[in-house]
Order: sequence, then structure tokens, then C-alpha cells
Amino acid sequence: MAIQYIDSEMMEVEGKRVIARFDFNVPLDKSTGKITDTTRLDRALPTIQYILEKKPKNLILMSHLGRPKGEAKAELSLEPVATYLAEKLGEDVILTESCVDRAIKPLLDLPKTRIVLLQNLRFHPEEKNNDPEFARKLASYADVYVNDAFGTAHRKHASTYGIMAYFKKTSFAGFLMKSEIEALSHVVNSPKSPFTAIVGGAKVSDKIKIIDALLANVDHLLIGGAMAYPFLKAKGFEVGSSLCSDEDVALAKNILGQPIARRIVLPKDHLIASNPDSAPSITEDQNIPEGQMGLDIGPQTIELFNEKLKSSKTVLWNGPMGFFEKESFAKGTFAMARTLSDLKDAFTLIGGGDSVSAVNQSGLADKMSHVSTGGGASLEFIENGTLPGVQALKFGLD
Ligand code: 3PG
Repeated sequence: MAIQYIDSEMMEVEGKRVIARFDFNVPLDKSTGKITDTTRLDRALPTIQYILEKKPKNLILMSHLGRPKGEAKAELSLEPVATYLAEKLGEDVILTESCVDRAIKPLLDLPKTRIVLLQNLRFHPEEKNNDPEFARKLASYADVYVNDAFGTAHRKHASTYGIMAYFKKTSFAGFLMKSEIEALSHVVNSPKSPFTAIVGGAKVSDKIKIIDALLANVDHLLIGGAMAYPFLKAKGFEVGSSLCSDEDVALAKNILGQPIARRIVLPKDHLIASNPDSAPSITEDQNIPEGQMGLDIGPQTIELFNEKLKSSKTVLWNGPMGFFEKESFAKGTFAMARTLSDLKDAFTLIGGGDSVSAVNQSGLADKMSHVSTGGGASLEFIENGTLPGVQALKFGLD
């Protein structure tokens, strides 16, 4: 079965009630409570605007924010999201007190009510437990269900999964979900070769599955950032005081033992310092002296990685090349962003998390073929070729 998208003829919403799940899990400034990156909200707007153009009686928006562990927490209220959306849409967005508020139904009946945002779904433990009663309650607010929450599609929660039981023929995927599925499926199922993946970030154990999945499909796997140190240590190089657990070194050793490990390309040099606040120096080779830690890839590595990327037709990037939050250790990460933005005729996909912030900070996001809004979701999609939330939209519940 195919997924029904919201632009399908089957989507009849005029005068009806639509409930739509988004991933409004945006970063907030701890001291001011302000949203620090609105990407996920901006990327949801086309779906929201499209539904509103179809003149529903109500559009009920829902999302989680953070990990409140089943309790109402003022600092994780969706209020800043309601304010931002109201400003962008030019109309009121009414925030409810909870998702099961008795006032919700009478509110929806008021002639003037159009857009309602349910308070943080995760204030209710039932959301994460995929509780059928909670899912039924959410479903009872509407006639049509839309899921545009790609970033949460790896979670089998009440609002992303269980709720589907109540909208067998009236569930649709939004435009963001569509673009994410298309871009990731392209890279997973039909990447043009040469296919190069760049993987960075901190822990091998977090990314072991994706490294395995990618190694089987890529021509080159460039490993940078803190991810590289366990691999270098496993090969017998010195890593000084760099981030490098014994568990990660053992995992790296296993990976390096496979014949396809020849596709792995490791840094040739590094930017190092005694701590992230000290001035950097460049190593002569792959070794990092005692008392120093690796904090970025070095100039020879940038050249080596650029060489591999030059002729690539598909590039997937997940994880920064160093401690890019500090300007003195951001060169490697921003150099990768620049190289990718200059590639001609290549499909470039930035797969979630910190590499997305890095690409946004570099100002080059619009030069990439696709920048995913999913962190864990995009990784799981690459590992498994699909996600529970996507399967539910395709085939219904298991
Ligand atoms: C994310 O930010 O990756 C999604 O919103 C999912 O959040 P979670 O990891 O807390 O489920």
C-alpha cells in the first residue's frame, strides 16, 4: 500500500476537524525560554497553511517538546511555539491546558475557534506508552489525521502510532514527511555512485549500526570528529587525552577487522589543545601527544576528505568533524559544508542533529539537496530503510 499524502484527492477537509502531529521539539534558551532554532516550525508551515487553505472547521496541532517524563513542566510548555506560529500564520493559535482538558470539545464547537495547539503531549505518560485510551481521546477531537512529524516517526507513541487505529482511511502524511521519506529513500535505495558518507560525532556505540549499514553501501566512509579517535587507537596510534572509551575502541577494532573496512578513511592530522579553551596546534601525523586532545581534523585531512568528495555523486553527512561550537575548532566542519555546497550534480543529504546546526551556522543549508529535520529518526531510517510511524501510514498498525 502507498502512503496517502495531504495533496491527494482523498483528503476532504472542508468544514471538518483535522488533528495533525508535528515535531515542534525545538531547542530553547535555558535562561530566556526563547526558541533558538525555528527550523522545525518553519518546515511545518507549508503543511499547516495547505490544510488551512482547505477550510477545515478546526485544525488541532499536537507535538511533544523535550523529555518531561510524563509530568507537566512549565519550562517545557508549548507556549513559545503557539506564539511563533500565531505570528507566522497571522491568526490566533489557542494553546490548551492539557491534551485531555474537558474544555477542549466545547472550545472546538465555538464558531470562532480555528487553530488549537494541544499542550505538550509528553506531559502525559500515556503518550510514550502508546496508551490506547489516550490515543482514542486524541482521535475523538477530529475526523481526519495528518502526520508531518518525521523527527518523531521512529517512536511508537500514541500520537504517532496508536492513533492510526481510529483513522484507517482518513490518515495522511504532510509535505515535510514526504520530502524526508523521498530524500532518505533515495540515499538508502538508489544512491548514485560514487557514494561517500561522512560520519562524525562523539560515540562509536551511538552510531555503530549506521556505520555497519553504511559500510556495506558506500564507496568511501570518511570518519572525523571524536568518532575517529577510537578507530585510530584501535590501529595503534596515540590519542592523548581525546574522548575515547575502551568500549568504543573495542567496537572500532571489530569494524576494522572486516574486509570492507578498507572503505574507511581516517584523519591524517588533527587540531589539538590541552583543553577546548586553549589555542590549537596542528599534529605532524595521526598521533596525538600525551596531555593533548583532538578537537578538529587538521589541514591535510581536510584535503584528503575533499579529494574523496570531489567526484562523489551521493553524499550523506552525519556528525561534526570537531568541536565546532568553538570557532578555533570549527574549520574542519565548515570546510566539509563548503565542499558539499560546491559539488556539482551530487545529491547531498545532511542527516540530522549537530551536522544540521553546523550547516545552518555556515549559512550553506540552502545549497544542500536535503537537510533532514530528524536526528534519531534519520539515523534509524538509514539503518532500517523505514520507521514505525512511516510503516503505520503505509500499512496501518501491526
Ligand atoms: C528529536 O528531537 O530527535 C525528536 O523530536 C524525538 O525526540 P526524542 O528523542 O525525545 O524522542
